[in-house]
Amino acid sequence: MELKQILSSSVLARLTLSQRVAVLTGAGVSAESGVATFRDPNGLWSRFRPEELASMDGFLSNPERVWQWYQHRRHVLDHVEPNPAHRALAQLEALVPEFTLITQNVDRLHQRAGSRNVLELHGNLEENHCSRCGAPYEDEINDDQPPRCPACGGLIRPSVVWFGELLPADVLLHAERVARCAEVFLVVGTSAEVYPAAALPRIAWESGATLIEVNPSPTPLSEIAHATIREKAGIALPALVQLIAQLRTTDGME
Ligand code: OAD
Repeated sequence: MELKQILSSSVLARLTLSQRVAVLTGAGVSAESGVATFRDPNGLWSRFRPEELASMDGFLSNPERVWQWYQHRRHVLDHVEPNPAHRALAQLEALVPEFTLITQNVDRLHQRAGSRNVLELHGNLEENHCSRCGAPYEDEINDDQPPRCPACGGLIRPSVVWFGELLPADVLLHAERVARCAEVFLVVGTSAEVYPAAALPRIAWESGATLIEVNPSPTPLSEIAHATIREKAGIALPALVQLIAQLRTTDGME
C-alpha cells in the first residue's frame, strides 16, 4: 500500500522526528490471528450476552458458565499466533526513543510478538485472582469450574476487567500520562466505544499529538484523526512501520 499518498506532509514529518510515540490497540489487531472481536457483525457480543459473561453479577449467578467461557477463550489462544500487525508494533518499539503500547486486549499476543512496554488496560487471560480477597491464584485449574481461594474460600476468577469494574488505577494513570505526552498517537483496531480506553486518543489529540487511525471501518475517532488508514492492521502496520524506518534513516534524526 502506498502510504505516502495517504499521509500529509505534516503527518510524515511527525513520523520522522517524534521522540514519543504511543499506540492504543483493540480486538481488531488480533482479528487476523483468528481471535474474535466484540462488536463486528460476527463478534463475541453478537453471540453472547456481556452482562452474563463479563460482569460480577453474571459470574456470581453462574460461576461455572462464566469460568467455562473464559477457559474456552484461553484454549483458543493456545492455537493462535501473533500476526504481522503485532510483529510490526514490536519493531516500531525499537525505532522510537519512547514507545508505549496501550492495549485493551487480554490475549497477550503483543508480548508474544516481542513488545515489551505494554500497558494492559483490561487485564489479561493468563492470570487469575480471588473474587473476594483479591489474592493472585497460581495453582492448578480445570475447565469445569472455578477453584476456591486457599486463603478465604472465595471463587477464583480470570484477571480481566468486567463491565461495571474499575480499570487498574496505576495502569490507567500511566496510560493517561503517556497520552498527554505523546507526539504521535496511533489507534489500531478498536471501535473506540468503551471508556475510559476510548478517551485516551482524545486526550492525546487535545494535547497536540498527531492522531492516526488504522481500521477498515469508521469509528467515532475518525472525524478528529489527522490520518485514517482504512485497511486491515496486518497490512497497514507493516507498511507503516517500514515507512517510519525509511523516514528515520534517510531524512530524519541527524
Ligand atoms: P470491538 O470489537 O468493539 O472493535 C473491533 C474494531 O476492530 C472494529 O472497529 C473493527 O472495525 C476493527 N477491526 C476488525 N478487523 C480488523 C483488522 N483486521 N484490522 C484492524 N481493525 C479491525 O473491540 P474493542 O474496541 O477492542 O472489554 O473493544 C473494547 C472492549 O470492549 C474490549 O476490550 C472488551 C470489550 O467488551 C472488556 O472485555 C472489558
